[in-house]
Amino acid sequence: MENQENYSPLRKYVSVKTDKNVRKLEVAGMEWVKAAAENKLSYEVDWLGVPAIQTPEDLILVQELIFRIKPDFVVETGIAHGGGLIFYASLLELLGKGKVIGIDIEIREHNRKVIEAHSLSKKIELIEASSTSEEVIEALRNKIPKGSKVLVFLDSDHTKAHVLKELELYREFIISGCYIVVFDTITSMLADAGIADKKYIKNTPMEAVQEFLKQNDNFIIDKEFNKLFVSYSPDGYLKRVK
Ligand SMILES: C[S@@+](CC[C@H](N)C(=O)[O-])C[C@H]1O[C@@H](n2cnc3c(N)ncnc32)[C@H](O)[C@@H]1O
Repeated sequence: MENQENYSPLRKYVSVKTDKNVRKLEVAGMEWVKAAAENKLSYEVDWLGVPAIQTPEDLILVQELIFRIKPDFVVETGIAHGGGLIFYASLLELLGKGKVIGIDIEIREHNRKVIEAHSLSKKIELIEASSTSEEVIEALRNKIPKGSKVLVFLDSDHTKAHVLKELELYREFIISGCYIVVFDTITSMLADAGIADKKYIKNTPMEAVQEFLKQNDNFIIDKEFNKLFVSYSPDGYLKRVK
């Protein structure tokens, strides 16, 4: 998110506090995220009438990213009820460009019906298969012309091995300046605190990110997207820089 003024000409008139108490924000943010996760607050968020399993803060950050990149394609793995897809599609509709491709290993009939009947459905394509299967990658190669601006959001199986495989497979669609966003990097901490399943201790999207970055020095964590301190995806915004 370097040089915010490039994206928002009014930024220079907004008086942001530069000497924040970062420690206090980090501690309070983590306390909030744990309490929210324990009480499944993210399950109570709808976007245009469809449940989106995200925190409001994460949706705001994604909106900033989509506005900046103005992608040709948004790809999401793990769609659940489809609120994320509707959210991306609504922003692309306002931007006047772009398509959404959603991939899920199981698209339940009631979810599919609501997504397909939605006024934004014309911007959305659904693929039912595992996000790491060859058929999905082949389908994406056919749908996404080379050189397109693509944003990928990974929100399917949150184990390390699966997310690492996704990162390795989906990086080919990301051109310099675009992003893969790895959701739920917080899961290890939630598992440590007894909130998420113990199987996630050191076996989460965050470990996958760390491993991926060791092998891929053309991606960096864009720390600016940690700015709200309340997020399920800290250090999850991976920007391709070369
Ligand atoms: C956390 S939910 C996704 C939430 C959604 N992105 C939203 O914003 O509301 C996880 C989804 O991942 C799907 N999933 C699990 N394993 C998968 C896999 N191997 N490939 C694709 N989707 C998978 C599940 O079926 C579930 O719908």
